[in-house]
Amino acid sequence: MAKQSKIAVVGSANVDLSIFNDMFPRPGETIFGKKFDLGFGGKGANQAVAASRCGASVGMVAKVGSDLFGPATIKNFECQGIDASHVLIAEGISSGVAPIFVDSSGQNRIVVIKGANELLSPDDVDAAASLLAQADTILLQFEIPLATVYHTIRFAKAHGVRCIVNPAPALPLDFKEIAAADYFVPNESEAEAITGIPVHDLEEAKRCAGYLLARGLAKVVITLGERGSLLATSEGMELIPAFKVDPIDSTGAGDAFIGSFAVFLAEGLTDRETLTRASLYAALSTTHVGTQKSFPSREEFDNEWERRGN
Ligand code: RIB
Repeated sequence: MAKQSKIAVVGSANVDLSIFNDMFPRPGETIFGKKFDLGFGGKGANQAVAASRCGASVGMVAKVGSDLFGPATIKNFECQGIDASHVLIAEGISSGVAPIFVDSSGQNRIVVIKGANELLSPDDVDAAASLLAQADTILLQFEIPLATVYHTIRFAKAHGVRCIVNPAPALPLDFKEIAAADYFVPNESEAEAITGIPVHDLEEAKRCAGYLLARGLAKVVITLGERGSLLATSEGMELIPAFKVDPIDSTGAGDAFIGSFAVFLAEGLTDRETLTRASLYAALSTTHVGTQKSFPSREEFDNEWERRGN
């Protein structure tokens, strides 16, 4: 049995309002939708929940609003077995929320209102120093201020903690700050927005990964949806294929990938083994509706991993 990994997430917590429909209204139009789902989300929180479901001990550093969603979000972390002692309520601001539009193919379009996530500061990171310094891995995304992301990368480097950066959603960034991260994991549209290089096929993804390596990043993983993920290091590039499933809602699949990736890596697997497992974990998450609630338990994952002959 692998040792229990310790994962810390410095990131966002949102409430997701998912609307399922085949079409979306034009300006001035009112239409009926098919279905609605309310659930806990936010890229940081989702990655924390995925890591916890995969069996890690997880701590979260986040800010929520002084509204109905704030205390409920903290309670959700606790129910998921996540240490929420560094999830603070910010007065006079809303929690992060995300209206999500899911079409009949399971693809999503998301609008994030950052709310309290925007107030997560470098001081909040320092206040969580004891939690963060004990972690095997710190996970970061871009739904909190970039100054806080950079500060946390420096903290991780100074304390010898592995740091994985998921630049989602994509923002113009300072490569000198990001280069200290151990893994940089964008999806294809984020990779394209950050580098300016289109990513429509594997060759373009390789060119894009090469650009990122040349800017000092040690290991780059570009997730390519149903085509798999591209691992790029100074030793070469390799495509890790995806697993076939029938998706109904892809929301949070990227977060399922990153959260599970952190756990498998901390358990001592190679990059290739880690990415293969994370790829199945993410694929399984698309077979259920919602974000965190679609993430399989470790037992469900292990059973499916074996069933597929691994
Ligand atoms: O990656 C999916 C997440 O993006 C959703 O949970 C939503 O809250 C946004 O942060």
